[in-house]
Amino acid sequence: MKEILRDNIDKNEFLVHRSVFTDKEILAHERAEIFSKCWLFIGHETEVPNAGDYKRKKVGGRNLVLVHSHDGEIRALYNTCPHRGALVCRENEGNSRVFRCFYHAWSFTNDGKLQGMPGKDGFPEDFNDCGTKDMKAVNRVEQYRGFIFVNFDDDAMSLDEYLAGAKEYIDLAVDQSEHGLEALGGVQQYSVRANWKLLAENSVDLYHGMPTHKTYFDIKLAQDPEIKKVKLEGRGKDLGNGHAVMEYMAPWGRPIAQWTAIWSEALKADMEKMKERLVERFGEERADRIANYNRNIIIFPNLVINDIMAITARTFYPTSPDYLEVSGYSLAPVGEPADHRLARNNNFLEFLGPGGFATPDDNEALELCQEAYTNNTEVEWNDISKGMVRGEENTLATDELQMRSFWRQYNKVIQASIMNQEASLK
Ligand code: FES
Repeated sequence: MKEILRDNIDKNEFLVHRSVFTDKEILAHERAEIFSKCWLFIGHETEVPNAGDYKRKKVGGRNLVLVHSHDGEIRALYNTCPHRGALVCRENEGNSRVFRCFYHAWSFTNDGKLQGMPGKDGFPEDFNDCGTKDMKAVNRVEQYRGFIFVNFDDDAMSLDEYLAGAKEYIDLAVDQSEHGLEALGGVQQYSVRANWKLLAENSVDLYHGMPTHKTYFDIKLAQDPEIKKVKLEGRGKDLGNGHAVMEYMAPWGRPIAQWTAIWSEALKADMEKMKERLVERFGEERADRIANYNRNIIIFPNLVINDIMAITARTFYPTSPDYLEVSGYSLAPVGEPADHRLARNNNFLEFLGPGGFATPDDNEALELCQEAYTNNTEVEWNDISKGMVRGEENTLATDELQMRSFWRQYNKVIQASIMNQEASLK
């Protein structure tokens, strides 16, 4: 069996074999076992709030349409015509009762049912009695507090069970608002010449924060004379099933109740009131966590929820072992005042995305790793052991427990896939 992980707690050593970033066979196992059997984020319920609303989505390599059907159900339809396969929905988003295929004009109601086709007399009366000429829907679509996931494996455990300890951290983000969160318009889409798992690691890696994002932190120091020294202090935590979080304090403003010097005095007064309201709703301790602590959460395999200087949801998929595509957007409290929303959006764009101070730095680091994996034959292992020596219950946010949680689950899934393949070849 291929060894991809060395997890030696006695020696405080955790190693990942670098072939996982370059090997095409590994990618085939990931497609079969991870992107076909794990719960994958498709979108937020507020992306399709009204009957007829739809959005095209690419999830786990499949073309889907997330649609709010007129019977009230939110479905994920496979975006392929049951006739001869054409993409049925070609608009990225919209509102419609019917999807009509461009090729031969079969039409479908927005729950996927075949509604009509030209030349009906050429088909038998009972042509679609068994429903196989309807647009097929993903059988497993479940949601947690507005976050909608799909699973292509009909036998998968429930989403609730799958999310395990991650639910607590989704709650902390959603509870910031008394009226729920909404997905904001506009999506950041970009690609990186690197393996997708490098971004999974990077998304919950605070160790790289200071060296990689020095420019951003220098700007924060210059903006606020009260900040004498940048400190990133907090904890890392394993949330089960490969999910993990780092929760920490940082010197940037949070649009929920952590004011920063570049914002107006009016915003400061608002935020003090907001904090009081949080204390009324949740008590001092939870209010302090919601307002003053940042959380970067990875939900295995590829959903990252950043609850930091804004709230963002980001997914990423491989097109090859050395290339990934990212899609991300921002979420905000429903009914947020315009000046708060502006501060939030500026915060988000200043740090995250292709025009921010962080994302280009991160992408460069990821590409440097990928480029150097040409040396894999001679230098085989990555070291991800930082903090093991402290014991996992004492893990700092700047340790590497979050990545170890991801890799332990990854190893479990991929080794099972390799064993199944080997057994089927015997
Ligand atoms: Fe869609 Fe023929 S492929 S109607």
